[in-house]
Amino acid sequence: MVLGIGTGSTVDEFIQALGSSRLRVRGAVSSSSATSSRLRETGIPELDLNSAGDLPLYVDGADQATPHGALIKGGGGALTREKIVAAASARFVCIIDDAKLVDVLGAFPLPVEVIPMARSYVARRVAALGGEPVWRQGFVTDNGNVILDVHNLRIEDPLALEAGIDAIAGVVTVGLFARRGADELVVAGDGGVRRISI
Ligand code: A5P
Repeated sequence: MVLGIGTGSTVDEFIQALGSSRLRVRGAVSSSSATSSRLRETGIPELDLNSAGDLPLYVDGADQATPHGALIKGGGGALTREKIVAAASARFVCIIDDAKLVDVLGAFPLPVEVIPMARSYVARRVAALGGEPVWRQGFVTDNGNVILDVHNLRIEDPLALEAGIDAIAGVVTVGLFARRGADELVVAGDGGVRRISI
């Protein structure tokens, strides 16, 4: 099959394991330039989402996850492409360690990708929602935009907050994945690996 592949240190391990396994994939749709480099190093062909069409499976990590499959993503800044590839995939398997599994999201600062000219405006609007936005200075996304990391949120209703932040003019993507969350969590801990199907 053709897989969608996310971004981050967990996914880097996944790509390495895939490369050294007997499994053969026809190719992968990448969510970042970092992942594209890993795919090249591993000899897995990269396909363009426009020609690959809908995908059967997307594999990615997360910064935080609830047992219901809602996620915070974007610690590595790849949230927009991750959200696109996840949306185009029939199934989303998310690999985390158990320290990332929480009942309520928000202790990890919520990344928001923003068009550069809208940075201060979006920061004011996000502050009005109760968060404390901090500009990730010196960081530019693969799409040429900036990131605000929103601290001090306690996200009781991830679906509503995702829709609310996405609706602010100048926001490209919020790193809340609730409308299209994970279908399965693979959670590693001291006692081994368990799977939570949502
Ligand atoms: C990248 O933008 C993120 O969404 C990552 O998927 C997330 O930060 C998990 O990364 P690690 O596997 O490195 O913790």
